[in-house]
Amino acid sequence: MIGSVRVRDAEPETGAAELDLRIGDKEYWGRGYATDTVRVICRYGFAEMRLHRIRLTVVAENTAAIRVYEKAGFIVEGREREAFRRNGTWHDMVIMGLLEGDLR
Ligand SMILES: CC(C)(COP(=O)(O)OP(=O)(O)OC[C@H]1O[C@@H](n2cnc3c(N)ncnc32)[C@H](O)[C@@H]1OP(=O)(O)O)[C@@H](O)C(=O)NCCC(=O)NCCS
Repeated sequence: MIGSVRVRDAEPETGAAELDLRIGDKEYWGRGYATDTVRVICRYGFAEMRLHRIRLTVVAENTAAIRVYEKAGFIVEGREREAFRRNGTWHDMVIMGLLEGDLR
């Protein structure tokens, strides 16, 4: 196991759910695993869970993760200012969303 992914909090009324992703083993970074994982789980979400949209939030400085999500078709939909604190420093969170037709 090198990481984990989940689609959580699916709402039947709106067809919306939230994506979490982590490739925890740094040995495996930069090999395309995250991009492939996001594509596969989102395809599953739309086809099998019959979702309408998938959203996520990511720390604004995490440009590698944002790149992964954009490659899969996610679009930046907003920004929450200073919504996350790590080691005493506040960070903005970027909100991203994917509709079925956006998936690449
Ligand atoms: C961010 C993370 C998901 C990326 O996983 P990965 O398997 O290395 O990602 P991939 O190999 O599929 O793709 C990485 C992309 O980011 C790019 N990239 C790497 N470092 C980058 C940086 N500092 N800035 C911008 N882009 C960067 C790579 O070039 C690649 O894009 P490309 O295919 O166009 O060249 C992984 O490092 C991780 O899980 N980190 C810790 C937890 C985390 O941040 N999770 C996301 C929280 S929302």
